[in-house]
Amino acid sequence: MTTTVTREFACGIPKAELHLHLEGTLEPDLKLALANKHGIDIGQKTIEEVQASYQFNDLSSFLAVYYPAMNVLQDEDDFHDLAAAYFERARQNGVVRAECFFDPQAHTSRGVAIETVINGYYRAVDEARAIGLSADLILCFLRDMSAESALETLKAALPYKDKFIGVGLDSDERDNPPEKFADAFALAKEHGLRVTMHCDIDQVGSIDNIRRALTELGTERLDHGTNIVEDDSLVELVIDKGIGLTCCPMSNGFVTEDMKGTEIIDLMRRGAKVTLNSDDPAYFGGYVADNYLSMAEHYGLGQEELATLARNSLEVSWVDEDERARLLGLLDDFLAAQ
Ligand code: HPA
Ligand code: ZN
Repeated sequence: MTTTVTREFACGIPKAELHLHLEGTLEPDLKLALANKHGIDIGQKTIEEVQASYQFNDLSSFLAVYYPAMNVLQDEDDFHDLAAAYFERARQNGVVRAECFFDPQAHTSRGVAIETVINGYYRAVDEARAIGLSADLILCFLRDMSAESALETLKAALPYKDKFIGVGLDSDERDNPPEKFADAFALAKEHGLRVTMHCDIDQVGSIDNIRRALTELGTERLDHGTNIVEDDSLVELVIDKGIGLTCCPMSNGFVTEDMKGTEIIDLMRRGAKVTLNSDDPAYFGGYVADNYLSMAEHYGLGQEELATLARNSLEVSWVDEDERARLLGLLDDFLAAQ
């Protein structure tokens, strides 16, 4: 389809990125450099070989490539360098607010201390803030691990509670519904943490998981969640409550048969707070501005619709109202200058 949107507009428009896994920003060059640094044989020696190993067509085949790659993340500097590289890309993509997922269990399960992970990532957050990027971390539970492991992970992280603002839920959704983690989410809320969770695309029981996430677990956002179009009453609920959906069209295009742009646009036009995000940009071919541009090009969206999506992202981000007003002001100034 044709669009009047340029790359300059897609990159320049101030936006929040709300669905971004820091481990999913591990680019082949950094992966190889860290493998070298630690003397780890990852089975590939060149960027091309790493890229050729990215063979996946659904969530589980993606995760089978994704988790083993994390072995190269060993010390605090590695976690710092990974996040710092993302924040630099984020700035180039017009991100003014970044809320970043990380998976502590993917590291603690192979002997890395949780403080190494949190302190490394947080050092990069602190540096990003110092140069004007509003940023925070969201700790995710791996849903294919046990409920006890999630609780233990949260308890181990609570001493560092000032370094992350919320909890999420990711990894393989099959047979791992959100209610499995009710205790961990309840404890997180007791400690004043925000709560979000993945409801991945076209999974077995997606719509039931979305329903429970919204009505029983009190999720404040849905990560992906576009299967909600199957139930009008749930769409009305998220519209009424202003609950954000963090959609990732390029990621969808890799792990399902399409970008789910039709669903995203339908929800946007009905007034749901849908947002565009990159998910795991080192694996899915683009950062957040590429997702904006790709939606515009594939579905013929114009500047106004991208502005709605960017505004949604700032409206459902987890900042205080003064900060939200400042961020929305950046968006208004950008649009006024077009
Ligand atoms: N879904 C589930 N697990 C994940 C994802 C996702 O989009 N990205 C990284 N881990
Ligand atoms: Zn995700």
